[in-house]
Amino acid sequence: MELDKAIKSRKSVKKFSKKKPDWRKIIEAIDSARYSPMAGNLCSLKFILVSDKEKIRQLSKASEQEFVADAQYAVVICSNPSITLNAYEERGGNYLKQQAGAGIQNFLLKLEEVGLATCWIGHFVDEKVKNILKIPKEINVEAFFPIGYEKETAKTKPKRKIELDRILYFEEYGKSRMGR
Ligand SMILES: Cc1cc2nc3c(=O)[nH]c(=O)nc-3n(C[C@H](O)[C@H](O)[C@H](O)COP(=O)(O)O)c2cc1C
Repeated sequence: MELDKAIKSRKSVKKFSKKKPDWRKIIEAIDSARYSPMAGNLCSLKFILVSDKEKIRQLSKASEQEFVADAQYAVVICSNPSITLNAYEERGGNYLKQQAGAGIQNFLLKLEEVGLATCWIGHFVDEKVKNILKIPKEINVEAFFPIGYEKETAKTKPKRKIELDRILYFEEYGKSRMGR
């Protein structure tokens, strides 16, 4: 799939079919995150592939989002902050979030390319997710992703996005025209 097509067709999906994806496709998507930029090339990201239905149900509860329970898999993305914070101190906190986003976007675009559907889940109770998956307390849970195939009978179109001229400035903040 062309990059431009993957970027524009990616969308959040909340209705999953019962068809179980080949887990190797999900590993391919996780692998693509390794190629994203990381401050000092120090990778802080960790990925947990969850296939246990009961754990996925508990993740649904921890996020108070019922549709999560219908997913065939979930991937929980964590950051180990220690190396980046040691290297960059205060700014390291920003870097950790930025590189989590960069890795996640690679992951999402690859899922799109292999035909899988997901939705970014950022709303959840951290402690609950940590308990379900035995994540140590010093590790941050960035987000998680219920994964499956989109339900054929309930397919949604990609959302309309903000127009370019509402986010683009020239030379200084707030200047919407090029030139003088
Ligand atoms: C940081 C972040 C947190 C999000 N958390 C949730 C969430 O908890 N539940 C949910 O349904 N969608 C969540 N989303 C998905 C957004 O609602 C979705 O990306 C947005 O509506 C745009 O739709 P699209 O992904 O189809 O382009 C989150 C997205 C981001 C980037």
